[in-house]
Amino acid sequence: MSFAFHEVGKTTKELGLLNEGDCLENLTGPLGNPSEIKNYGNVLCVGGSIMIAPLLLQVKAMKEAGNKVTTVIGARIKDVLFMEEEAKALSDRVYVATDDGSKGYKGLDFLKEVLAKEKFDRCVAMGPVVMMKTVSDITKPFGIPTVVTLTPIMIDGMGMCGVCRVTVGGKMLFGCVDGPEFDGHQVDFDELIHRQRLFLPEERLSSELWELAGGCKCGRSKA
Ligand code: FES
Repeated sequence: MSFAFHEVGKTTKELGLLNEGDCLENLTGPLGNPSEIKNYGNVLCVGGSIMIAPLLLQVKAMKEAGNKVTTVIGARIKDVLFMEEEAKALSDRVYVATDDGSKGYKGLDFLKEVLAKEKFDRCVAMGPVVMMKTVSDITKPFGIPTVVTLTPIMIDGMGMCGVCRVTVGGKMLFGCVDGPEFDGHQVDFDELIHRQRLFLPEERLSSELWELAGGCKCGRSKA
């Protein structure tokens, strides 16, 4: 079993210090509803950053359901792009994109040309919110049903606290119980981006204090 995560704050940095055989006291998930997998025909799967890992599970499932699958994997820069070989092994075709153009296409604009040439029946996008917004904006004029995986800030993960609320098609829904997958053409991405940034100062402070305290409660550090 593999566990993929990106070290961005205190908790994920702590996770990065764990060794094989170490334990987590609590782990919640998977939350919400299973992905809808069936034979749609021609499917476009777009994954960015750490979410390339779960995207490839969908790629595999979509292939097994009989779909033709084109996969796009992207990252900020080439050094943090991963699982390219796995994507190639699972997909009919793979495109690579980076924000700075250090590998593959620069950004996702190339997709407009791809979609103009070929008809897709479904698009699945997983990654940073801004990336999913971009993909949804690109697929909308082509009328391609687009499913995005949202991971808003969560507390209880049980539909009680309301912290994970997202607006989809004008309705308030909860990421943890109604999601994680939503219609990308209906999601209020601007609201989601705003909510995702609400605690950035506290997250930064927590990470800095943790680093100042030596990087780990248990005395272990990467150095
Ligand atoms: S995390 Fe509390 S309602 Fe979803």
